[in-house]
Amino acid sequence: MGTKNQMNKSIVCIDTEKDQPQMTNEQTFFIDGYWLDKLPNHINIDVFDTFEFKDCTQPEETWLDQNAMKDLKRLHKWFADNYIAKMFDDFQMKDCAMWSGVDEGSREWHNDFEDGDAFNSNILVYMDDNTEQNGNNIQVASGDYINIIYPKRREFVWLNQKKCFQHRATHKSGVRRVLSFEYMIPALL
Ligand SMILES: [Fe+2]
Repeated sequence: MGTKNQMNKSIVCIDTEKDQPQMTNEQTFFIDGYWLDKLPNHINIDVFDTFEFKDCTQPEETWLDQNAMKDLKRLHKWFADNYIAKMFDDFQMKDCAMWSGVDEGSREWHNDFEDGDAFNSNILVYMDDNTEQNGNNIQVASGDYINIIYPKRREFVWLNQKKCFQHRATHKSGVRRVLSFEYMIPALL
């Protein structure tokens, strides 16, 4: 409740599509709660187009296309080796998943770890363009700022779910598919 009140008072709203961030990814991760980056060319996500992305307003158990598991796990490990391990000595790999749309709970400001989930950091890979035109985005709030992020296909958002950060997702129109990779990082507790 306190955090929500704080959010309403927020005076600075940054649209990352218009206002190009001046900070490095490391800085946005620790100061604003997110890392926005693009997959290198050698990482192919086209294979996921062949799998079914379940509408996430359906029960969570049904989301995952089991055929995608091998490819999801490979990417989960790749992110661990190339991003998580480069920043943190100690971490655990948690679940990976894929879905389409935005569930009811994720439309509201929240922090997944504070809400009882087993991870406190996750990477969301975007399969479709999020733009001002289609109205799809992800927003990350720190005490002072709300950053509105429009990830394009092949871009990813690495969320820092330390207590001081909250996020919410918007799905206004079109297809909005994501891959999700979860980690538990003690240094972010
Ligand atoms: Fe979330």
